[in-house]
Amino acid sequence: MGEKVLVVYFSRSGTTRVVARALAGLLDGDIEEISEKKGREGWRGYLRSLIDGIEQRSSLTARWALDPTPYDLVVIGTPVWAWSLSSPVHAYLNAYKGKIRAGAFFCTHEATGADSVFAQMKRLLGRAPRAVCAITSSEVASNSYGPRLEAFVAALHEGAAAAEP
Ligand SMILES: Cc1cc2nc3c(=O)[nH]c(=O)nc-3n(C[C@H](O)[C@H](O)[C@H](O)COP(=O)(O)O)c2cc1C
Repeated sequence: MGEKVLVVYFSRSGTTRVVARALAGLLDGDIEEISEKKGREGWRGYLRSLIDGIEQRSSLTARWALDPTPYDLVVIGTPVWAWSLSSPVHAYLNAYKGKIRAGAFFCTHEATGADSVFAQMKRLLGRAPRAVCAITSSEVASNSYGPRLEAFVAALHEGAAAAEP
């Protein structure tokens, strides 16, 4: 594609991480996991995440190292929490509204909520994504998400070609 690509994501329990790593490999891009001061393990972490999702909160301790603004394309991934994006990704998008040249979104979920998550992410990014991709955790567990991810990568390549002068 000739573009400089960054894949950035948050993952509480590893599912979104699997997809992010595969995606960074397919796109030959850099990858970064957003972290937080405190982990979200166990039922307390689950409950905290659930409330953060319901309230559509932005994490106060989310951190990352790479500046996404020099990248041609930033692909942002999140788990779905109560039909919402995760609070660390919320914080990330808040920090760069209108500053990312081109964005694309992916999420992992059990079954529902991807559409509302992508709508929230679009609003926070301040522009429409080049493409979106929703993958279920059972597709990740059974390692059957490949075709869906390849379709996403094809859409990203097409978008890059369309954007060329
Ligand atoms: C607090 C919380 C809320 C969730 N809410 C939803 C939901 O609304 N819809 C859904 O399909 N999955 C929901 N899930 C399932 C996760 O989106 C799914 O397991 C995801 O793949 C986890 O990604 P991760 O392992 O990268 O954290 C929820 C999970 C958690 C922890």
